[in-house]
Amino acid sequence: MATGCDVKNEGKASVTTVHLKDPVYNIKVDLKYRAYNDVDMIEAWTEILNGEKGTVTLTTFASAMLPIRRGDVWMSHLSGTWAAEGQLSHEKLQPGEFVIRNNDGTRNSHTDHAEVMFSLDGKGQENAGNVIGAALVYSGNYKLKTVTDDTEYHYFFAGINEQNSEYHLKKGETFKTPALALTYSTQGLSGASRNFHKWGRKYILAHGDKERDILLNSWEGVYFDINQKGMDQMMADIHSMDGELFVMDDGWFGTKYPRVTDNCALGDWVVDTKKLPNGIEGLLNDARKNQVKFGIWIEPEMTNTTSMLYEKHPDWVIKAPKRDAVLGRGGTQLVLDLSNPKVQDFVFGVVDNLLTKYPDIAYIKWDANMAIMNHGSQYLSAADQSHLYIAYHQGFAKVIDRIRAKYKDVVIQCCASGGGRANWGMLRGFDEFWVSDNTDAMQRIYMQYGTSYFFPAIAMASHISAVPNHTVFRTTSLKYRIDVAMSGRLGMEIQPKNMTDEEKALCRKAISEYKEIRPVVQFGDLYRLVSPYEGNHMALNYVSKDTNKAVLFAYDIHPRFQEKLLAVKLQGLDPNKQYKVEEINLMPAASSGLAANGKVYSGDYLMKVGLDVFGLGQTQSRVIELTAQ
Ligand code: GLA
Repeated sequence: MATGCDVKNEGKASVTTVHLKDPVYNIKVDLKYRAYNDVDMIEAWTEILNGEKGTVTLTTFASAMLPIRRGDVWMSHLSGTWAAEGQLSHEKLQPGEFVIRNNDGTRNSHTDHAEVMFSLDGKGQENAGNVIGAALVYSGNYKLKTVTDDTEYHYFFAGINEQNSEYHLKKGETFKTPALALTYSTQGLSGASRNFHKWGRKYILAHGDKERDILLNSWEGVYFDINQKGMDQMMADIHSMDGELFVMDDGWFGTKYPRVTDNCALGDWVVDTKKLPNGIEGLLNDARKNQVKFGIWIEPEMTNTTSMLYEKHPDWVIKAPKRDAVLGRGGTQLVLDLSNPKVQDFVFGVVDNLLTKYPDIAYIKWDANMAIMNHGSQYLSAADQSHLYIAYHQGFAKVIDRIRAKYKDVVIQCCASGGGRANWGMLRGFDEFWVSDNTDAMQRIYMQYGTSYFFPAIAMASHISAVPNHTVFRTTSLKYRIDVAMSGRLGMEIQPKNMTDEEKALCRKAISEYKEIRPVVQFGDLYRLVSPYEGNHMALNYVSKDTNKAVLFAYDIHPRFQEKLLAVKLQGLDPNKQYKVEEINLMPAASSGLAANGKVYSGDYLMKVGLDVFGLGQTQSRVIELTAQ
């Protein structure tokens, strides 16, 4: 029963609490709602207080429930797998239950996602209609459930997945659920996305108001073949193409067990001096010489059975007592038990040691390449084994908070075998995430379109890579690869040594043009215009806050011969402003075939009549800048 309600101001938000109490037992439940004044978002969560004399077991503990009273409601959500993350689908809610559940333990967005949208007026449209957006802000296992019953209502429940997660709440303890972030838009699915993007940039991401550096990551270029000379060359190359940051990926560490492949050394975060005789200091010197910032890869929550860490602390891994552990990547990988405060100190220490010794490290790529495949904590008591999934993420949050309290400036990328951690609970304290290990431009169009439903371009690491693509073996033009990467947080993941001078010149030009449009892409409003899931093309545009600049990205995927192509109508412009249309990122000798190129049109015309941008052919694309006159 309800016992009261109060409202408190909290910065730019107000928190409303509805107090409930069980009429029989001394259990209190507070329903909390944080409503922001400056972004369209309400965060709802629940706090359960055990006022009984003994421990109480929680078996179900959703964060919030939302009734949706409408007939023809459609749900949009993402699913996928490794190298095919962020696939979009739309389903009509039917009588019965629909459950989206995650059980991975460490990563929670490879398969399904903890975010959904509900279109209230039939199948959702990108730029019209009433839409509710919901994102569970939780890094661990989740469960989202819609129930459609005979009452004309659809009910939406979201929270921690209670499977194998019974929670024993001690006397006097309070259990706080993660928040469910809820938004409402009258401007369709894209409108709900913009609400998530604004809230995420402002309240979740680290440095959501700072432009991201254009980087080169070493992974697809050299994989484990790290050495001083090679790193120096890559730094010189990215600098020569006007990039700003170099990130050394996996393969730089391990002394007793040098990390020459993926089967050893996680946990031994000490430089392999055979590969890098001058250590990290030597790399930082090279970075200074080459005038780029320097970043480094770590996977601090993990170890291998072939590591000094595991030899010293076999008790730190997640594993059932008596049973042999199931091993992950390289046939040797294991997850460290973050429910254990000593492990939390160790994981914090990995970052702390690096940044204390080398304060010039500007960027960290934080990876996590294994699920909890062995259920069992060597730290938690036998009675509390079911706390592991939750305690892992409580430990994880503590570590990230400690890192952020001490290191405010460092940029941290959240990666997990590609896009396994694209989740708002995960991203608290992180700057961005790796969308997928699959860098094939055509596949990325689908993944980035889907991922943009809930996450802003500033957070979506999107890299130009080599052809044939290392994952899908497809060959696409360098321009296409650049144009796709440019619609997110642009970077490169390639061996520049293997590029021709012409290719480097094209990338240099693209990077300088990206710098021009970077504020619009990274801080602007996104409007998705043409879905790749509904045809052979994709288009989206970003518009700056003052509506003076916009960028339109248009991609042909596999158009059909004699296909009747419609003009693309832009969105979000000021109808009364005049915009100059300029195609950018053209091949050096090419001139734009766009009829509108160089001409000036009103925002009204561009939004009502549009531009003929498609029809260039298989995997061809255009980037078009619009500038108010
Ligand atoms: C994961 C990441 C990759 C790369 C490798 C390194 O698979 O997703 O980007 O960092 O690990 O081992």
